[in-house]
Amino acid sequence: MPDKKIKTVIADDLESLCEQAAEFVVRCITDRASVESRVPVVLSGGTTPKGVYEQLAGENFKRRVPWNRMHLFWGDERLVSPDHPESNYFLAYETLISRVPIPRENVYRIPGEKADPEKAADEYEQTLRDFFRPSRGEWPVFDLVLLGIGADGHTASLFPGSSVLQEKKRWVAAPYVEKLKSYRITLTMPVFNYARQVIFLAAGEEKAQVVKELQAGNHTRARLPFQLVQPHDGRLVFFLDKAAARFIG
Ligand code: 6PG
Repeated sequence: MPDKKIKTVIADDLESLCEQAAEFVVRCITDRASVESRVPVVLSGGTTPKGVYEQLAGENFKRRVPWNRMHLFWGDERLVSPDHPESNYFLAYETLISRVPIPRENVYRIPGEKADPEKAADEYEQTLRDFFRPSRGEWPVFDLVLLGIGADGHTASLFPGSSVLQEKKRWVAAPYVEKLKSYRITLTMPVFNYARQVIFLAAGEEKAQVVKELQAGNHTRARLPFQLVQPHDGRLVFFLDKAAARFIG
């Protein structure tokens, strides 16, 4: 059985997973928009979120979203230009942003085109600080964070064994990812753990082994990056398809 504090939604297939996740996202955003003028949301890269973005941009959901209140940020980015096929911004632009009436000034992409990854991370942290205007020592509180899970247990660009997992000060970091032989820009673990709501999206058989780690006990002894996402006051929901959930029933 999965850990009691973790809610899991198991859909029949990828399409139904994306539909159910989109419904959840819309409800979450409309709820917050009824009490706040700005609803900051973190988007993820990856194939599963892509399906959710397409749903959100589709006729069923598009008209229900208060786009002018939604403010889009990213959980991680590759060091590429914003029109590069591997850019997480590009993915969201193609599937969502270019298809919905969100004001362009509500879109805060990670400057992956910067030659120096540390500078790109610092610049993005400043973008976040300008938006949240925190008091000293305060962390940003996103209303909603969307994350994927890699088969190795990574989430955003927080990979197993990386020293960035211990980060306690910076909001944005530029870790070197040995297995990819490249730098990534990523929000740090505390940022995810201060969010009001975090949803993970994972589909396909290749995720079944890692999703198995959600089982009670395994999660309490968290060791994989995705397991370390445990929002202090927020809710955590996993949207899975049957293939990814085959060992957790
Ligand atoms: C990225 C990510 C990454 C992703 C997972 C799962 O840009 O690659 O943000 O953390 O979400 O690797 O990706 P898939 O859904 O494609 O398997």
